Amino acid sequence: MAKIAILGYGTVGSGVAEVIDTNRSLIEKRIKDTLEVKYILDLREFPGDPNEDKVVHDVNVILEDPEISIICETMGGNEPAYTFSKKALQAGKSVCTSNKELVANHGAELIALAEKNKCNYLFEASVGGGIPIIRPMNSALTAERVVEISGILNGTTNYILTKMEREGARFEDALKEAQDKGYAERNPEADVEGYDACRKIAILSSLMSGKTVDFKQIYTEGITAVTPADFSYAAKLNMTIKLLAMAKEKEDGYLAAVAPYMITKENPLAGVNDVFNAVFVKGNTLGDSMYYGRGAGKLPTASAVVGDVVECARNFGEHLPCLWEEENVSLKDFSSAKGRFFVRVNKVDEAKANELFGSVEKIYLENYPEEFGFMSGEMTEAEFEQKKAQLSGFVSRIRLKD
Ligand code: HSE
Repeated sequence: MAKIAILGYGTVGSGVAEVIDTNRSLIEKRIKDTLEVKYILDLREFPGDPNEDKVVHDVNVILEDPEISIICETMGGNEPAYTFSKKALQAGKSVCTSNKELVANHGAELIALAEKNKCNYLFEASVGGGIPIIRPMNSALTAERVVEISGILNGTTNYILTKMEREGARFEDALKEAQDKGYAERNPEADVEGYDACRKIAILSSLMSGKTVDFKQIYTEGITAVTPADFSYAAKLNMTIKLLAMAKEKEDGYLAAVAPYMITKENPLAGVNDVFNAVFVKGNTLGDSMYYGRGAGKLPTASAVVGDVVECARNFGEHLPCLWEEENVSLKDFSSAKGRFFVRVNKVDEAKANELFGSVEKIYLENYPEEFGFMSGEMTEAEFEQKKAQLSGFVSRIRLKD
C-alpha cells in the first residue's frame, strides 16, 4: 500500500484529499497498488471533516514513519516548507509540491537532494495550476532545445484584464470584483505586481536552461498602471493587453521578463481569458507548442499534485531525471532588450514626439482629447527610456509583443 501525508490542509491540500477520493479506483489501477492518506499536517483541527482523525501537529510523526513514502507539500511559502521538504527527501520520501516560491528559491538543491536519496521532488502544480507543463518539459520535449517560453501564467491578473477589456472597468474595480469572487487575495500584491508570474517563469526558464534562473534578476512589471484608456487604444488597433511572462534564449545569453504587453487579436493568447493560463514553448526543431487550461483553483492544482503522487508511486525507489543545476544563469540586462512600444503622449508634445520617434501614425480617441497614441519603431529599452525622458507630456507606454 502507498501511504502518503499532506502538509497543509488549506485550499490545495484539502483538494488533494478530494481528488484522491474522487478518482481512487482509477488512480489505484494506474499505480497497481492501494493509496491511503495516512496523515494531514496542520496547525488547526478540522472537526466534522472526513479526514479529521488524520490530522497531526508534529511533522516528525510523518518524517519518522517508515510507512510514508510520499509527501504532498501544499503549505506555500518558504519556511517551514523548505525545512520539512529537505528532511523528507533526506529520509528518502518523495515530495510533490504546489509551492512555486519554494521551487523558485530552492528547486535545484531539492532536486539534487532527491537524486542523492533515490526519491523525487516533483512540482507540476507550481506553474500553471492544472496545466501539464513541467512534465512535458522533462519528458516529451527533452529532444528539443527550447528557445522561448512565453505565456499567461497568472489567473488573477488575467481575470482582471479580461474584465477591464470587456466592461471598460478600472483596475481598482476589476480587482475588487476579483476579490469578492475569491479569485484575488485580500493582499493582491503578489499577483497584481507580477511577482507570482515572475517566480513561475523563473521555474520554467530554469528547466529551459538546465541551470538556475534567479527570479530576483527578472525584470518584473505588474498591471496596476493599466487603464481603460489603454484598452480603448488597443481596441482601435484590434489588439488587447495581457500580462505576459517570457524567457528567450539569445545568441549571447537569456532574457526574461514579466510585463503587460499589447498583443494582436490574432495571437492565440488573446483568446485566453478569465482565470485561464496558457504557455507557449518554442523548440528549435519542434517550433511552437501551446499548453492551455485552468492555471489556478483548488481541484485543478490538486489534480497536478496527485498526478505527481502517481508518478512517484509508479517509480518508487527510482529518481526521475530533471536537468536543473544549482549554477546560476546570468540573465541579459533587460535595458538591452529590443522591442516596440505603444506610447501615449499629451498633444503639447506632438512636435517633440515626431522629432524623437519619426513619422509614426498617430491615433486619436474622442474620449481622450488632450492626448494621442502611436506605435514606436524597434529600439532597446534603454533607447526608449532616453527618448521618454525628453517628452514632458509623456502619459504611458505598453510594450508590443512581436
Ligand atoms: N494566484 C495565482 C494565480 C494562483 O492567480 O494564478 C496560482 O498560482
